[in-house]
Amino acid sequence: MWLIPGFASAYFLFRRRLKSAGRYGQIAAVGRRVTAGVSALVYRLPRRAARFAFTRPVRKSFLPKGVPVRLTFTSPSKALSKTLGALARIAHSARLPLKSPTVATWLYFAAFLLVVTLIVGGATRLTQSGLSITSWKPISGVVPPQDLPAWQAEFENYKHIPQFKQINPHMTLGQFQAIYWWEWGHRILARLLGLVYLGGFLFLLWAREIPKRVIWRCGMLGVLVLVQGGVGWLMVASGLHGRLFVAPEMLMLHLFVALSLLIVTVWTGAEAGDGAPRGRGAPVSWRLGAGVMLGLIVGQCLLGALVAGNQAGLVYNTWPDMDGQFLPRIDWSNGALAFVHDQTLVQFVHRMNAYLVFAYAWGFAVVFGAKCQDTGLKAHAVTLAGLVTVQAALGVMTLITAVDFHLALLHQFVAITLVIVATAFLWRVARADRVFRKMGF
Ligand code: HEM
Repeated sequence: MWLIPGFASAYFLFRRRLKSAGRYGQIAAVGRRVTAGVSALVYRLPRRAARFAFTRPVRKSFLPKGVPVRLTFTSPSKALSKTLGALARIAHSARLPLKSPTVATWLYFAAFLLVVTLIVGGATRLTQSGLSITSWKPISGVVPPQDLPAWQAEFENYKHIPQFKQINPHMTLGQFQAIYWWEWGHRILARLLGLVYLGGFLFLLWAREIPKRVIWRCGMLGVLVLVQGGVGWLMVASGLHGRLFVAPEMLMLHLFVALSLLIVTVWTGAEAGDGAPRGRGAPVSWRLGAGVMLGLIVGQCLLGALVAGNQAGLVYNTWPDMDGQFLPRIDWSNGALAFVHDQTLVQFVHRMNAYLVFAYAWGFAVVFGAKCQDTGLKAHAVTLAGLVTVQAALGVMTLITAVDFHLALLHQFVAITLVIVATAFLWRVARADRVFRKMGF
C-alpha cells in the first residue's frame, strides 16, 4: 500500500512538467500500469486487485483537455511488457535533458547509502553475525521476530549450523539477538538500496529526467543490485553447511559486486551532473595510468576480503616481518587453492600488493604532479597517494592488534573512500581534455 502515496506524490510533483510535455495522459497510464504490475507481481495480489487497478477510470479533472486515455484490463505479464515497452519509448525520446542535477543527487544519495550498507556489512562480519539468519525471505524477512517463541524458533535454526555447534555452543538467546540485529540491519539496508536504485530509476525515467547517455547505465545499476542480493544469499548459504564461516571466495565476490556498484554509481552520477559532450579526454597514457590505479586499489580490497574471509588477520601479528620470517611455510597440498584458502599466503599477498599500490600511487602522483598544470587535478592525485598511505598504516595497525574491531572497521571505511576517490580521479582525467590540451598533448 505504501506504493500509492509514493506514486501520488510523484504524480503531483511532476504534473506540471508532464502537462507541458503534452504526453500527460500517456504517461499517467504508464504510471498506473507500473503500480498495478508491481503490486500484482511483488505482492501476488489476487487477479481481482490487479483488474481493479488496471480498469479504475482516470479522473477527468486530472487530464488536460482532449487527451484520449484508454485503459484496458490486461494480465500482469502483459502489463509488465507494455510498461517496459512504454519506458523504452521514453528512453528513446528526443526530449530528454542533456544533464540532470536531480539524477546526480539521486545517484550520490544511492552511493552514500551503499557506503553505509558496506560499513554495516563490515561490522556484521567483524561481530561474526553474518550467519545468524539462516533463511532468505526477501519480502517477509523485513519483519524481525515479534515474540519470544518466534525468537526461540530463529535461535533453533541457528543452533543447527556448524558455527553454533563448534564456536558458540554456550551462546544465550540474548547474545543471539545481538548478532541477529547486525545481520537484519544489513539486510534491511540492502532492501532499501534496491528500492532506491530500482524505484528511483523507474520514477526518473518515467519523469523523463534521466539524460539519454546514462539511461542504460542507470538500468544496469538496478540489475546489479538484484544480482548483489542473490550473491549475498549464496555467500550466507556457503557458510551454513560444512564450514564455520562463509567461503572466503564468496565474501570476495560479494565485495566485488558492491565495489562495482559503487564505481558505476559514482561515475554515472558525475556523468549525469555534467552535460558537456564528451571531448577527446586526456591522452591514453594518463587515462590508462589512472585506470590502473583504480584497478590496483580494487584488487587490493578483494585481497583484503580473502584475508578477512580466512581470519588471516589473527595470525602473524607482526610487521614488517611475519613472525620473524619474510614468508613462512605455505601449505600447497590443495595446489593453487592456497591463494584463496591458505592464511599465510593470503596475508602475504595482501601485504605485498599493498607495497605495490603504495609505490604506484606515489610514483604516479610525482610524475603527474610534474607534468599536469591543473592544480585541482594535481591535488587529487596527491590526496589519493596520501589516502593510500593512511590506509596502509591502518592495515598494519589492524594486523598488529589482531583485528581490533574499530581499527578493522576504519580500515574498511578508508578502503571504500579510496575506491570513490580513485573513481572520481579517473573520471576527471578522462574528462579533462581542456587541461591536457593546454599541456600541448
Ligand atoms: C592500499 C592498501 C590497502 C587496502 C586498499 C586494503 C583493503 C582492505 C580491505 C577492503 C579489507 C577488508 C575486506 C573485507 O572486510 O571484506 C582489508 C582487510 C585487512 N587488511 Fe587491508 N588493505 C590495505 C593494506 C593493508 C596492509 C598494509 C595490511 C597489513 C600489513 C593490511 C591488513 C589487513 C588485515 C589484517 C585485514 C583483515 C581484517 C579483518 O579481518 O577484518 N591491509 N584490507
